[in-house]
Amino acid sequence: MSKLEIITVPDPILREISAPIETIDDDLRRLMDDMLESMYDAPGVGLAAIQVGVPKRLLVLDVADDEEGPNPYFMVNPEIVSLGDETRVHEEGCLSIPGVQVEIERPGDVVVRYVDRNGDQQELAANGLLATAVQHEVDHLDGKLIIDFMSRLKRDMVIRKFKKQARAD
Ligand code: NI
Repeated sequence: MSKLEIITVPDPILREISAPIETIDDDLRRLMDDMLESMYDAPGVGLAAIQVGVPKRLLVLDVADDEEGPNPYFMVNPEIVSLGDETRVHEEGCLSIPGVQVEIERPGDVVVRYVDRNGDQQELAANGLLATAVQHEVDHLDGKLIIDFMSRLKRDMVIRKFKKQARAD
């Protein structure tokens, strides 16, 4: 396995819409493994393929705490098929926007349909942090970021900061 570089704002690739995946082969499974390793290393609880420069509808997630041990999900072509009425507020971070946290209110329950690592169709009912993380990662596949939940003014400030930083590097 190898660690992948995680792309940060303001790289425009993060705004791309990711394309559906047609086949799950060894190359894709290798990408899943590398993404998971990179996510654990960061550390983070979710990572979308677009964040490592691959515009495909693939994400990895693991919201288990240290005591629970690893519980990774690999989701190919995830689709949110239903959202609950109750909401959950969470201060979300993003590996592509290091150091920035945004308080976001989202549905607290989701049902997500996806194809797993073995090519089998799955349906998962998630709540709590997993529900939040699924929605956050699916947003990435549509080019949406947590800064889009901020006011325009705050968002512009964040982007300016990252642009300045990118120039300095
Ligand atoms: Ni993110």
